Amino acid sequence: MSHDTIARIHAREVLDSRGNPTVEVRVQCAGGACGRAIVPSGASTGKHEACELRDGDPKRYAGKGVTKAVANVREILAPALVGMPASDQAEIDRLLVTLDGTPNKSRLGANALLGVSLACVHAAAAARKLPLWHYLAGNREPSLPLPMVNLISGGLHAGRNLEFQDFLFLPVAARTFSEALELSVAVYRSLGETLRQHGFEGILVGDEGGYGPRLESNDQAIEMILRAFEKAGLTPGKDSALALDVASTHFYEGGRYTLRDRVLTAEEFTELLCRWVDQYPIASIEDGMAEDDWAGWKLLTDKLGRRVQLIGDDLFATNPERFARGSVDKVANSILIKLNQIGTLTETLSVIDKARAAGYRPVISARSGETEDTTIADLAVATAAGQIKIGSIVRGERLAKYNQLLRIEEQVPAFSRWQRV
Ligand code: PGA
Ligand code: ZN
Repeated sequence: MSHDTIARIHAREVLDSRGNPTVEVRVQCAGGACGRAIVPSGASTGKHEACELRDGDPKRYAGKGVTKAVANVREILAPALVGMPASDQAEIDRLLVTLDGTPNKSRLGANALLGVSLACVHAAAAARKLPLWHYLAGNREPSLPLPMVNLISGGLHAGRNLEFQDFLFLPVAARTFSEALELSVAVYRSLGETLRQHGFEGILVGDEGGYGPRLESNDQAIEMILRAFEKAGLTPGKDSALALDVASTHFYEGGRYTLRDRVLTAEEFTELLCRWVDQYPIASIEDGMAEDDWAGWKLLTDKLGRRVQLIGDDLFATNPERFARGSVDKVANSILIKLNQIGTLTETLSVIDKARAAGYRPVISARSGETEDTTIADLAVATAAGQIKIGSIVRGERLAKYNQLLRIEEQVPAFSRWQRV
């Protein structure tokens, strides 16, 4: 038995940043090294994501308990994995997928599988006495990611005050990660003041820490942010840019994009986004079209794909088959990477590699329901993904990741500066 042989796997139910139960897994190796991981959870989930197994028992946590997923780890996954080397990630993940046996991980739950998958990699890194980013990087050249920082939240993250889900800051002029973070804090604060001066609530925040004011329109959100850029001493379009997560799946009904005051076809909605790109310094748009509107996506990519980063989140769902279809059809030019959309580390790494090979930019992302787990920070550095989307610069579950990146920065000098599409 070697020192990194898996000796024990334990799972428990803990809580995430919305106070919902989630799965935590702890893996212990024969030599004493331990690894722990907690699984995040989305609110604006896409229908092509792997299945998050919830108990559905209304008497506990309004049906959101995860005791079944926890039991699946303890009773099915743990006995199968004990005795394997924690470092054999590919084999561990292959076994997890086989034991589940469904295409969307609905039998044992992607939350059960991912908890085990990530706890194993943490344990394997600990057994080698390496920081996770170092262990995960292998022969790759690590690099700190550029953060995409949530400023104003709408959609399902802030009680549908606005149709669009996230208005984000892209610190395009930052030369280091810590400089990007400092700029983000300056912009966030100046936006808070700007909102207050215009009579809006600038204190209450959404699930990812962005402000959640009751603005009149999406345009008004952008106007407020541009003012905040200037007030923070930045020049919009030069050293500061906007990113949007439209999350349009969530207002797409019967083939139409339904905004507060109008109902648009994919063509009309594309025109609207094009006008916005002409009018405002928008460098990145996520989920501009709905998850199954492939024709709309093609149209949007043809119109804007050479000017703007177009990220597929609900569209690709970190799923290799959906990404393969998209890259053949040449839709989007970037892919959001969320570990729990697919359910194992190996599959996630493989989607990142496929994206790179096809010339797509990977953006590593947190979920709206998060915890103190910092795995994605190390993942972004190890894969030199280039960008990370964690949420805003307030709320502990967000800061856990930013602070981990600050720690890693002391050892990894490289930083992925913004590159125009
Ligand atoms: P979610 O939001 O975690 O609620 O899905 C994040 C996103 O849409 O990017
Ligand atoms: Zn999204």
